[in-house]
Amino acid sequence: MDRYIGGGVKKNPVTILVVDDDQVHRYMLCSLLKKWGWRCVEADDGATAVAAVDKNSYDAVLMDVRMARMDGREAFTRIHARYPSLPVIIMTAYSSVDAAVEVIQQGAHDYLTKPLDFDRLRLALLRAVDHHQVVSSRLQAAPGGLKLKTTIIGTSPPMIELLEMVGYVAPTEATVLVYGESGTGKELIAEALHNNSERYSQPFVKVNCAALAEGLLESELFGHEKGAFTGAEKQREGKFVQADGGTLFLDEIGETSQAMQVKLLRVLQEQELQRVGGEETIHVDVRIIAATNRNLEEAVAGNNFREDLYYRLNVVMLTVPPLRERREDIPLLVEHFARKFADKNRRVLDKITVECMDLLVQYDWPGNVRELENAIERGIILMRGTELTEKSLPLPIQNQAMKYTAPHPTEPVSLFDAEKQLILKTLADTAGNKSEASRRLGITRKTLQSKLNRYGKQ
Ligand SMILES: Nc1ncnc2c1ncn2[C@@H]1O[C@H](COP(=O)(O)OP(=O)(O)OP(=O)(O)O)[C@@H](O)[C@H]1O
Ligand SMILES: [Mg+2]
Repeated sequence: MDRYIGGGVKKNPVTILVVDDDQVHRYMLCSLLKKWGWRCVEADDGATAVAAVDKNSYDAVLMDVRMARMDGREAFTRIHARYPSLPVIIMTAYSSVDAAVEVIQQGAHDYLTKPLDFDRLRLALLRAVDHHQVVSSRLQAAPGGLKLKTTIIGTSPPMIELLEMVGYVAPTEATVLVYGESGTGKELIAEALHNNSERYSQPFVKVNCAALAEGLLESELFGHEKGAFTGAEKQREGKFVQADGGTLFLDEIGETSQAMQVKLLRVLQEQELQRVGGEETIHVDVRIIAATNRNLEEAVAGNNFREDLYYRLNVVMLTVPPLRERREDIPLLVEHFARKFADKNRRVLDKITVECMDLLVQYDWPGNVRELENAIERGIILMRGTELTEKSLPLPIQNQAMKYTAPHPTEPVSLFDAEKQLILKTLADTAGNKSEASRRLGITRKTLQSKLNRYGKQ
């Protein structure tokens, strides 16, 4: 069964990577898959599978959990971190269903229990392959043939432009400042920058600079020596050292104190630091990505943020647009989250009603994608039956919509339209009484009639 994408262009045969250390089981699976028309490549343990996805591209991975050399869960975690859009289906024995639920929550596409039900297996693979083809054709559709490894959803012009920039900047060593309102997806952009860089196999370490008091933040970032302060019972490495060779994501950088900004500037300039209470100079090789929802340029102008640090961070600035400025992305996001939360909560979702989708597209989303994600999760949980309707949406969304659906005349665009609107409105006001309407309009009944004829009305 060859599959075709778009205008009849034949894609390479659909290929599935089958990972199982039981040779007989693997052989049986591959013969089945071939019978169903798929190409099949075998890997006999997790480590081989991880290496295989680096070398060739696959449409889906079918993987056993229990394997001697690198188990399925670890292999999945590694594959998913690098190729988030590659669907992985986990096969597990009945006794380890809990483990399967855990991997689903971490992003595995599906799981199957052994002994396998072959109909379910075929369906799961069909779904996985379809999903992969949709996602990869969307990525390939981006201008410049850009292929990003990312879970970021968005096909609106501003998002395509942003993702294109991510594609250019990711493989460089540039420090990047990601700017955008709360919940727009700044952290996802930071992850995409890391995952598409040479550093992808090294750690990606996050620090929320707003979550910690200044002293704690310092020790969190730079580490501390034993006895550096009360409670410092042993030496501790900070996030900079943990991120050595990889990327450090400094979230909410705009909330750091002036003193902290001086310390950060030094590490950025020298790539070296000292633990709190320590003398030793430690060299680190870390790429910095910072994020903020504050306008740092204004903060610099108001002396609330150091100008030198701002310029250090802002080698490249990526701005993530608010959701209300890219409403075209809303339906895609809604479908994505609806499927995700239906799976997670074991709900059957047949459809999202048109009215519900209209409301979601019209709403202004001050909390951006995060607010949308929460609204959909709540909607799926409150859903009665198998349709997501506007009734299970949060009230503010239902209420905003009333503003839109309340009848309001469309603005007339020309004199002809203005006259027509006034005439039709007067007729409606007089319940279709033409004599009364013509009297109110100050025209003869005959003129009224001839105008109505022009509008195609009696
Ligand atoms: N384009 C997108 N596609 C899919 N999921 C998205 C997208 N944008 C955001 N999300 C999801 O929305 C949530 C919020 O995104 P994220 O944490 O990256 O936002 P943020 O800009 O860092 O927010 P904050 O400023 O509040 O920290 C996450 O669960 C993220 O996975
Ligand atoms: Mg964030």
